Amino acid sequence: MNALPIADTFASREPAELPSLHEASQPTLTNDRLALLLMGHAAFQYLHVSCELGLFELLVRRPALDRAEIKRELGLADRAMDILLLGTTSLGLLTKRDERYTVTPLITEIVENGQWKHFTDVVAFEHEIVSEGQRDLLGSLRSNTNEGIRRIPGEGNSLYRRLAENPRLQEVFYRYMRSWSELAHEHLAKINLGGARTLLDCGGGDAVNALALAAMHPELQVTILEIPEAAPYAAAAVAESPHSDRVSVHECDMFTADWPTGADCVLFAHQLVIWTLEENVTLLSKAYDALADGGQLVILNSMSHDEGDGPLFAALDSAYFASMPAEGGMIYSWAQHEQCLRAAGFTEMRRVSGDGWTPHGVIVATKRQRQAGPRP
Ligand SMILES: C[S@@+](CC[C@H](N)C(=O)[O-])C[C@H]1O[C@@H](n2cnc3c(N)ncnc32)[C@H](O)[C@@H]1O
Repeated sequence: MNALPIADTFASREPAELPSLHEASQPTLTNDRLALLLMGHAAFQYLHVSCELGLFELLVRRPALDRAEIKRELGLADRAMDILLLGTTSLGLLTKRDERYTVTPLITEIVENGQWKHFTDVVAFEHEIVSEGQRDLLGSLRSNTNEGIRRIPGEGNSLYRRLAENPRLQEVFYRYMRSWSELAHEHLAKINLGGARTLLDCGGGDAVNALALAAMHPELQVTILEIPEAAPYAAAAVAESPHSDRVSVHECDMFTADWPTGADCVLFAHQLVIWTLEENVTLLSKAYDALADGGQLVILNSMSHDEGDGPLFAALDSAYFASMPAEGGMIYSWAQHEQCLRAAGFTEMRRVSGDGWTPHGVIVATKRQRQAGPRP
């Protein structure tokens, strides 16, 4: 691997060349926020059980029910009902007015936008996989590696390899991954692929993005690179889709395999949050070499602010990436991705930010043939 000028802290990072998309604001620690810090696991459990019990769907369908009506619908005992309503109103999930309960507008919007299944798939993933592994955050930070992986039985140092030995968790994971990706498809739809005819989808999961792109671009041929442990998920989804003639799965380890060359586009979706910055440069360099001149590289994942102060979603998600999926990784800032792109030889890049409840963002970089000589 090249010796690379990748700064690994916010303090020592080079200033971003592109303007930050965020206005700095840091929260004040109130008594309620302190309670959330001390018992955030309980806050998550209130969210989790409310989803499992169908509380939000009930109250979006039939707003302003009173306690007795909710109790009858959910079939809970009096004390259980008191606990659930105390928790969900105090957390701002429900509003109580004149003894009647309504779902808070943001959750109502998620349900009404057709994103409820997506949301509950994320909740299930947090419950079944993330919360376990994060118990090892302390050790993971001290040793700078993913100690939480020990919570998933099996061999291999990445979550993705171990999931294959835990079929129930693998189902939970890929259901979540599909939903999380679908939530980001509005971003994929905004990208002008400039008439690209061939696209490599690196670590393409269950083909959710490859198939969406094939549907959006009728001329596009997509090749998914996936490890043998997960490739069957992609192959099964492709086989069932109407685009199976234009999407294929190449079973390989993308770090060690030779990639097909001459691609018009390379996609890293929810991929460059898993690895160290140095590993990202390795992948981006391989992508640079695989791209045709003028080809585009697309990074789609959660982004953190260049200032290293949020958003909160990215910060909390980083605890998972520190503890579980692989030895290095976090929700990097836009500027850190751009630094990696420059180290891999890209010179032209632009940011496309989102404004939904997920912290998704996109960076599109274009390959311009570099002059002969070493990488910058
Ligand atoms: C976080 S998931 C993202 C899946 C998909 N891109 C999406 O956005 O839904 C990461 C994927 O990368 C795959 N992966 C991990 N290591 C890999 C490797 N060395 N080579 C190829 N794929 C890999 C995993 O199996 C997993 O499906």
